Amino acid sequence: MLILGFESSCDETGVALVDASGSATPRLLGHALHSQIEMHQAYGGVVPELASRDHIRRVLPLTDAVMAQAGVPLSAVDAIAHTRGPGLAGALLVGSGVACALGMALGKPVIGVHHLEGHLLSPFLSADPPEFPFVALLVSGGHTQLMRVDGVGRYELLGETIDDAAGEAFDKSAKLLGLGYPGGPALSKLAQQGDPAAFKFPRPLLHSGDLDFSFAGLKTAVLTQVKRLAHAHPDGPATAHLADPLTPQQKADVAASVQAAIVDVLVKKSLAALEETGLQRVVVAGGVGANARLREQLNAACAKRKVRVHYPELHLCTDNGAMIALAAGLRVQAGRVDLTQGAAGYHFDVRPRWPLAELA
Ligand code: KG4
Ligand code: ZN
Repeated sequence: MLILGFESSCDETGVALVDASGSATPRLLGHALHSQIEMHQAYGGVVPELASRDHIRRVLPLTDAVMAQAGVPLSAVDAIAHTRGPGLAGALLVGSGVACALGMALGKPVIGVHHLEGHLLSPFLSADPPEFPFVALLVSGGHTQLMRVDGVGRYELLGETIDDAAGEAFDKSAKLLGLGYPGGPALSKLAQQGDPAAFKFPRPLLHSGDLDFSFAGLKTAVLTQVKRLAHAHPDGPATAHLADPLTPQQKADVAASVQAAIVDVLVKKSLAALEETGLQRVVVAGGVGANARLREQLNAACAKRKVRVHYPELHLCTDNGAMIALAAGLRVQAGRVDLTQGAAGYHFDVRPRWPLAELA
C-alpha cells in the first residue's frame, strides 16, 4: 500500500511516499522538503501568512519530485495523508486542501494525521526501529511532553511543559545572544566552545516530584546574565544588540550553560518517567532531539541503566513529510483507519490545537 504524505503545519513543506504493505515496517520510497527558515529569518520567527503562501508555492513541485524519485505515477498511490494538526491554521489548510483535492481526483482515501504522532513514530524509519512499549520524549519548538506509548494510537500523557517548550527555550535564549532563527542549532553550535558550568542557570521543576516541565523562567535568567555581562563591559549596554558587548567566550559560556540546564532537566525527567513506568526503552523525537548534548547525556545515563534509546534519523528529527506518511501507514496497519468511507472520511477541517492524548 503506497501512502503519499504532506506536512505543512509550520515552516517546512514536506512531502513523502512510503510503502506500508502488509505488516512490515513501512519503507520510505521518496521524500522532499523545503525549509522556509531563510524566509522567516528576517523577522526573527515564523510569520504565519508568509508560511501559508510559501506552502502553496512549494507543495506541488515537491510532490512531482517525490513521485519522480520513487519512480511511480500518482495513480499508483493508494491513500493520501496530511498533517491535520496541531499547528498554524492557514499552513495546515494548505496540506489538507491539497491532500483532499488529490484524494478526490484519484478516488482515494485521505488520512488526517496528528503532527506529534508523526514525530513520535518517526524512529520507525530508522535503521534501529524501537519496539512497543516505550517512553517517548517529544521535544519540539511547540511541545515538550513525556508519553507512555503502548502501541500505535495508545498514548498516555505522563507530563508536559506548563509554559515554554524546550525548543522555545533554545530559540529565546539564542535570540538574547543575538543568534539567528531558529536558535536551537546555532546555540548548540556556539555551546561547543563554551563552559557548561560557567553560569548556574535554574533547573525549573527538577525536583517537583512530577513529570512536568517549565522553561519560561530560564529566558529571564539568561536575560539577567547577559545584561550583567554587558553592563560590566566598558562600552556598556549602548550597543545595537544587548549581547554585543559580550566577548565571544562569554557568549559561548552562556550558550553552553543554558544548554546544560535544558538538557539536564530533559534527561532527569526522562529517567524519572522510565522509573515511574518501569519501561526499559525511550524514544526521543522532535527538533530538539537533534541536540548533540541531549543525545550524549541521555545515552550515557541510559547505558548505565541498561535502557535502550532510539532516535529518528537526524534529517527526520525536524518537521518532514516522511513521518506523516509513516504514521498514516502504521495507523492503517494497526487497523485504526477506516479506508472504506470514501470522501466522508476526509478531514478538510484542520485542528490547530489538538491534544495527542485525544487520539484513538
Ligand atoms: O520539531 P520541530 O522541527 O518543529 C516543531 O514541531 O516545533 O522543532 C523545531 C525546534 C526549534 O525550536 C529548534 O530551535 C529546535 O527544534 N532545534 C534544536 C536543534 N535543532 C532544532 N534545538 C537544540 N539543538 C538542536 N540541534
Ligand atoms: Zn514538529
